[in-house]
Amino acid sequence: MAQQDDVFKKIVSHAKEYGFVFPSSEIYDGLSAVYDYGQNGVELKNNIKRYWWDAMTLLHENIVGIDSAIFMHPTIWKASGHVDAFNDPLIDNRDSKKRYRADVLIEDCLAKYDEKIAKEIAKAAKRFGDSFDEAQFCATNGRVMDLKARRDALHERFSVAMNDNNLDELRQIIVDEEIVCPISGTKNWTEVRQFNLMFKTEMGSTADGSMTVYLRPETAQGIFVNYLNVQKTGRMRIPFGIAQIGKAFRNEIVARQFIFRMREFEQMEMQFFVRPGEELKWFAQWKEWRLKWHKALGMGDEKYRYHDHDKLAHYANAATDIEFRMPFGFKEVEGIHSRTNFDLSQHQKFSGKKIEYFDPELNEHYTPYVIETSIGVDRMFLSILCSSYDEELLPNGETRTVLHLPAPLAPVKCAVLPLVRKDGLPEKAREIVDELKFDFATHYEEKDAIGKRYRRQDAIGTPFCITVDHQTLEDNTVTLRERDSMEQTRVSVDDLHKLIHDRVSLASLLRKLK
Ligand code: GAP
Repeated sequence: MAQQDDVFKKIVSHAKEYGFVFPSSEIYDGLSAVYDYGQNGVELKNNIKRYWWDAMTLLHENIVGIDSAIFMHPTIWKASGHVDAFNDPLIDNRDSKKRYRADVLIEDCLAKYDEKIAKEIAKAAKRFGDSFDEAQFCATNGRVMDLKARRDALHERFSVAMNDNNLDELRQIIVDEEIVCPISGTKNWTEVRQFNLMFKTEMGSTADGSMTVYLRPETAQGIFVNYLNVQKTGRMRIPFGIAQIGKAFRNEIVARQFIFRMREFEQMEMQFFVRPGEELKWFAQWKEWRLKWHKALGMGDEKYRYHDHDKLAHYANAATDIEFRMPFGFKEVEGIHSRTNFDLSQHQKFSGKKIEYFDPELNEHYTPYVIETSIGVDRMFLSILCSSYDEELLPNGETRTVLHLPAPLAPVKCAVLPLVRKDGLPEKAREIVDELKFDFATHYEEKDAIGKRYRRQDAIGTPFCITVDHQTLEDNTVTLRERDSMEQTRVSVDDLHKLIHDRVSLASLLRKLK
């Protein structure tokens, strides 16, 4: 675990050092859980968004996009349930004055039981060697059995308390498990209170005062309230989807793990409207399609898993997360939810406007059911960064830090490097840049020795380096160096476009989704 913590720290500092992610307002000592994307980060982020957008809107002729405003009528958040129920249970430690999410303290405690069990298993595996039978060991070892029983009892108690919204019971669990504040080390806890996660602000200034509006905590509601507009103007027939990418805001109580949990973040959400009764079939279909989208990036199938929810929101009849193995464990990157007709029905009720679909095949009016796919851009970014970061030991004993980014998502696709800054090589290199730059993000670099320049490109994940040398002037060939294998091949300048395109085009990625 400590080793994984170190790796994660290195990734965070690499992200800053190479212009991917900066803490927000850094010269003013930062703003907690808010981050800025730098010159390379913004390109990677835009490429992720383009991959998602094209996969939704180009590959599905029944999915269209919108871009709704962040500010919306405040009644929308009453109708959606966010005003009354978008809460986290918080608890304060009276000595450190630090605030925590009560559910997270308990989840951390559960994780500690799991760690202890895993340690016992690892110790025994080492002791018994090849003859070790894990299942038998877990079923017979007293210590492991005791830890498992305590863990399962805690899990059950916690699930019931969360389901019943029982804040006193959450506090009692913290007391009974003797959970201490990580800062003060004491158990001097306040009561547990609900804390609404929406940011509020004021809009307008009239004689009657201003109106309280919210910064949206999800982009989904912008889709629901535009359902009729899109269905009618686009003459959409069910099943169809509406996709949107945009900022969302949550006043998270505990913000941690870098860009994993932020107060301002970006979502890519798609609401797919279906006939009542067909929602679970579509839910299964979208589960499969979304995992395929992730796996097509080639970061390793073993890094993903589904986490089906036992505890469902009152309006959902199925929900699953796609989790990714981050250095701090498997974590949710995307949620897929079968939201029934809850949202559209609520907006119909609160707005007084009829929100229905006339199904010409069934000759029937109904309120469509919805399958939602919701993925955080920043979490996706983090999963890619974590999976790509590598410190490779080279045969000459040196270490190179490289980002094995999926080539179509890399911020820079190729770098053109004149071997020396004279003899007409810079001019020839510039000529090549001027050819490639219309189709690929292309860098030109002439400073420092060639090896150093390769390392700099490796560190930002550039798939190809093109070296221009004296031979180039004679036969119009260059050295094409591939990032991952470091293999160098002599190729004609005329072939560069095709060679690069085959590896870095988004279309090559999208074709895998067919
Ligand atoms: N409309 C459904 C919805 O918003 P969610 O599970 O609350 O569902 C969806 O959020 C996704 O948004 C998550 O899977 C995660 O990737 C991202 N997300 C949620 N809260 C976040 C936060 N505080 N910081 C970064 N990403 C977040």
